[in-house]
Order: sequence, then structure tokens, then C-alpha cells
Amino acid sequence: MTTTPSPVPTAPAGELGFGQVFTPHMTAMRWTPDGWERPTLRDFEDLALSPATMVFHYGQAIFEGMKAYRHPDGAVRLFRPERNASRLATSARRMAMPELPEADFVEAVSMLVDADREHVPAEPGHSLYLRPFTIATEATLGTRPAREYLFLVIASPSGPYFTAGFDAITVWVSEDHPRAHPGGTGYAKCAGNYAAGMLVQQVAAEHGAEQVVFLDAREGRWLEELGGMNLFLVREVDGRPTLVTPPVSDTLLEGITRSSLITLADDLGLRVEERPVSLEEWRAGAADGTVTEAFACGTAAVVTAIGTVRTQAADFVVGDGRPGLWTTRLRDALLGIQEGTAHDHNGWMRT
Ligand code: COI
Repeated sequence: MTTTPSPVPTAPAGELGFGQVFTPHMTAMRWTPDGWERPTLRDFEDLALSPATMVFHYGQAIFEGMKAYRHPDGAVRLFRPERNASRLATSARRMAMPELPEADFVEAVSMLVDADREHVPAEPGHSLYLRPFTIATEATLGTRPAREYLFLVIASPSGPYFTAGFDAITVWVSEDHPRAHPGGTGYAKCAGNYAAGMLVQQVAAEHGAEQVVFLDAREGRWLEELGGMNLFLVREVDGRPTLVTPPVSDTLLEGITRSSLITLADDLGLRVEERPVSLEEWRAGAADGTVTEAFACGTAAVVTAIGTVRTQAADFVVGDGRPGLWTTRLRDALLGIQEGTAHDHNGWMRT
């Protein structure tokens, strides 16, 4: 561990934004054909890599997003880190990259959180965002899986992902560019999926929207996800509020927040339907009042209401365009557990 850490940019509490500042350290693990080396703690500093490094050319890069929270008892805890470990392994398999065992993943993350624990913000809605990632570091232009990799964990004290905090966002429906196709990489958290979404994200911003809703590639009518977040609707079914979300498939990233909310919904008396749901069902339900709420969810986004849906033809508004009752209840239930103000009855938090 360094005794001369690089200077950390600071921001006043409440103005941290998301992913702007980084803690003084990172953990690193190298992989060679002999296997994974032990994790080491290093200064957070630039990497020296050959211009021929394979990740720059062929994009073998996978990552995770997770958070550490400072609890009222002073302890710093992680939310379901083993789920991130297993998803990184799933992504690695799809990208022909080496799988990091779960215990090593958790050890590397914990090593960084322990070293930089004073950088975990205490303010509600704030946390230490952790970004574990693996890249191909072999320097060659041959098109085959690399024979050297680097797994790093960096950390960023962060506030809410969206600049408007937890206010409702506007989403743009991508009618021309699907995010994923059957048999592709949609279920993997690989850099290429995010790169492919940048153009549509730019178009969305030009239309005043914060996020993109991607539709399925075959028919262009089924809701999938938002590129970096999963999507839920709340609708009245037989007079009962019901959470509706597209089912997990090879074109959807299985969010840890998504599956946690499905568990928490049960406690709140909400039914859950994991089934195909079309843009048309969303639009018609918003018009006749049966779709009362919609929200995005993810590690970064937590639970963020969707107020307006913008398509090439027209906009439609969900509910009154503001965060609804169930969106707020689910967010409060999840954040209560994550921030340590509610009982962790599912045993999700780890020191
Ligand atoms: C996350 O929610 O952690 C993500 O990885 C999504 C996005 C910020 C890229």
C-alpha cells in the first residue's frame, strides 16, 4: 500500500455527481496462462499499455457496477457482492476471457474498500461506487482471445446518477437500433454493448431524454432494457397493482437491482409478472390509466421514475409524470437495506 497516495480531487458533499472523482487506490490482479496472480493494492494511477494491447482493438473488456455503503453503526458494507462476482464470470465466459473465482473477486473488492474506507460517503443517496473490470492486456494484433488479462477495481465516491437526483426522467425509444440480438452478447456486461448504445444515447440527449429504451431486434415491439438499467412498469391487473418487467433472456442484462426488487415487491404486497411487454401495451396502458408508473433500476440508477416516453411520432406521459407510490416505496425499501436504516431481512449486506 502506498504511503504517498496520488492527490484525490474533492467535491463538496452533495455535489459529487456520479463517477467523477476516484479514491487514492485500486486493486489489481493479473492473469497469465498460469492463472490468476494474487491481488495487490496500488496507487490509483494511469496504466502503461502498448498501443498494440488487444483491448484497444478487439474490445475484450467486461465490467461490473456495485456499491459500498456507510451504515449508521459506522460499518462499511457491500450489497450482494457475490452476485457481481458471478455475473462477471458469466460475462467472461461469453467473451472468451478467464473467469475470476468468486472468493478472489470479493477479496479484491474488499481490499480496496478497506484501504479507502474513509472515502465512503455517509450522506443519504451517496455511496462508494465500485467498478471492477477485466481487460485483455496482451500486445498483439492477432484475432484470437488474449493470453494476458488485467482485473482492476477502482472506486468513486458518488451521489445520484442522474443530475436531477430522483426526479422522473424522460426516455427516448430507440426504434431503429436494437441493443442486442438473439445469440449475441446482450446478457454480458461487456464494453461493446455500451459502445453500441452511444449513438442512440446521443440522439436521446438531442431529444431531451436521459435514457434510451431498447426494443427487441426481431420484431421491434417488445421492451427490453435501457442499456445501463432494467425497466419495470406498474399496472393494475384485476384491480391489484402488479410489477411487470421483461423476462431475463440472452438479450437482457440480468440486473442485481432488478432481481432484488422482485424479491422486495413480494414483501410490499405487489404481484410480479416477468413476461414480454410491448411498447404498445405501455402506451395504451398509460393512456387508459392502467399503467400507473414506470421506472428504471440499476446499481447506479437505484430506482428512478420514468415520467415521459418520447418516440419519433409522439410523447406519452406515465401517471402524472412524477415518481409514483410504488416506485417510491420500492426505492425506499431497497435504499433502507443498502444504507442500513432498515432491517436486512434477506441477508444481502456484507462487511
Ligand atoms: C451500473 O448501474 O452500475 C452500471 O453499470 C450502469 C451504468 C452506469 C453503466
